[in-house]
Amino acid sequence: GGPERPVGGSAPRRAQPPPLPSCDSSRRALGEAMTQPHHDRLLIIDFGSQVTQLIARRLRELRVYCEIHPYNKVDDAFLAAFAPKAVILSGGPASVYWEGAPMPPAGVFTLGVPVLGICYGQQVMMHCLGGHVEGGHGTAEFGKAFVTPAGGALPLLDGWFEAGTEQVWMSHGDHVSRLAPGFAVYGTSPNAPFAITADPARRFFAVQFHPEVHHTPKGAKLYENFVRLAGFTGDWTMGAYREDAIAKIRAQVGDGHVICGLSGGVDSSVAAVLIHEAIGDQLTCVFVDHGLLRLNEAEQVVAMFRDTYNIPLIHADESALFLGALEGVSDPEVKRKTIGKLFIDVFQKYASGIEGAQFLAQGTLYPDVIESVSFSGGPSVTIKSHHNVGGLPEKMGLKLVEPLRELFKDEVRALGRELGLPASFIGRHPFPGPGLAIRCPGEITTEKLEILRRADAVYIDQIRKHGLYDEIWQAFAAILPMRTVGVMGDGRTYDYALALRAVTSVDGMTADYYPFTHDFLGETATRIINEVKGVNRVFYDCTSKPPGTIELE
Ligand code: XMP
Repeated sequence: GGPERPVGGSAPRRAQPPPLPSCDSSRRALGEAMTQPHHDRLLIIDFGSQVTQLIARRLRELRVYCEIHPYNKVDDAFLAAFAPKAVILSGGPASVYWEGAPMPPAGVFTLGVPVLGICYGQQVMMHCLGGHVEGGHGTAEFGKAFVTPAGGALPLLDGWFEAGTEQVWMSHGDHVSRLAPGFAVYGTSPNAPFAITADPARRFFAVQFHPEVHHTPKGAKLYENFVRLAGFTGDWTMGAYREDAIAKIRAQVGDGHVICGLSGGVDSSVAAVLIHEAIGDQLTCVFVDHGLLRLNEAEQVVAMFRDTYNIPLIHADESALFLGALEGVSDPEVKRKTIGKLFIDVFQKYASGIEGAQFLAQGTLYPDVIESVSFSGGPSVTIKSHHNVGGLPEKMGLKLVEPLRELFKDEVRALGRELGLPASFIGRHPFPGPGLAIRCPGEITTEKLEILRRADAVYIDQIRKHGLYDEIWQAFAAILPMRTVGVMGDGRTYDYALALRAVTSVDGMTADYYPFTHDFLGETATRIINEVKGVNRVFYDCTSKPPGTIELE
């Protein structure tokens, strides 16, 4: 099972007596029709592990095109349409003994392509191919383990075991107790006699640990060996992607017209430049300026797209409308909803003025598209209502153009570089849709926004000057809803206090505060107070996420 399995868990581990789930695919829904394969493709069948996305990332780093699909959406028809060159079965929290335990379609094992099972993927493979899996009692294993070689050489393990043993990361309750016919053991750990198993003739491999996490230091090598033995050539490059994407956009749009909402962020910008390259002036961008942007940001976005790229751009300066609607609003959720609703209204107003528009471009990324496998079933809690234009395409009868929906964030950046977007632009920190509104707790006023813009600019300038910008996921100033007393020159001041925030993160889901030196913090506080009228006190926010969030609201 995946790392989410509780030790000796209370989950319904073994039905009495265990009903043997069939490995056939008859109960599974038909997969959606596949587009023509343009690269060698690898299929990852997801059984719900929290680290499945990491498998995809490791493979993409090897220039292998892969897609993650939940086990219950993959049947034999899907397999035939997808035509994978190899299949990976992910980990997951289930037990093969659960009633209706998740199973891959039988066709996976008759495709004639290499298959790699990881953790639950290993167990399911043994179960389907005639081996045996047992419940954990006393053998559950979580965390670091050391694997030593057993049996002969295996192409999957080229370059492994050079130091005699390899560190791996285990996370399982059940374990394989009898191998399926044709399989042999190639690596063992003290608690996992079947840590690495394979049937080399059929090119089936199954490991009990997670090679995709960084606690398995040579995990990437294992994936590299797997894709090499499967015959992948590393043809997934951004240059190739760019050409494919352009051809696809042209085919989809024909001589129609596309509208693209531009936020100034990396995703929508890369999407806009790519689409413009494909269809030129059949694209019109709409940049909604809600008056909650950073210092000079609107001018920069307009200059870059309209002047440098010659992309037809409507600059919808609606700051008065947004700030008016936010007057007197201090509740964070009301702020977010007010902005979200107005944004859609405004966007729609401008978009409906663009004659003949049939398509709406969106910078949707692959992590938004991957369907997750959930075993918890409970409703998830809304922490914050995120700002997007969901629902708009249906309302306006527009079709979606989403040229980034196969990409991870780092791949979007690589594509941006490929398209010639300036490095300083591509490396920009994320900026939230509701903008400065959620960095101004309490009521929003133009005075506060002005102070915040100038202070934020000084802070970011400091970070850049000290060469720290690229080490930080996101840094910004927030203006606090209070004034404090200070003394400047001979006089008393009674001015605003600011909070500075800087975090490191991989995906924004969790974050650590950035450990600036005291010298840096002191120098920055002094500069802000000297250069920005209206501020006389600066705090540094040392809260990680959780328990904090990145933004203050
Ligand atoms: P939180 O504050 O939830 O933020 O820890 C996580 C990441 O999401 C960004 N963020 C948003 N991005 N629309 C966006 O496009 C939003 O409404 C929104 N709210 C937060 C935030 O800046 C951080 O990178």
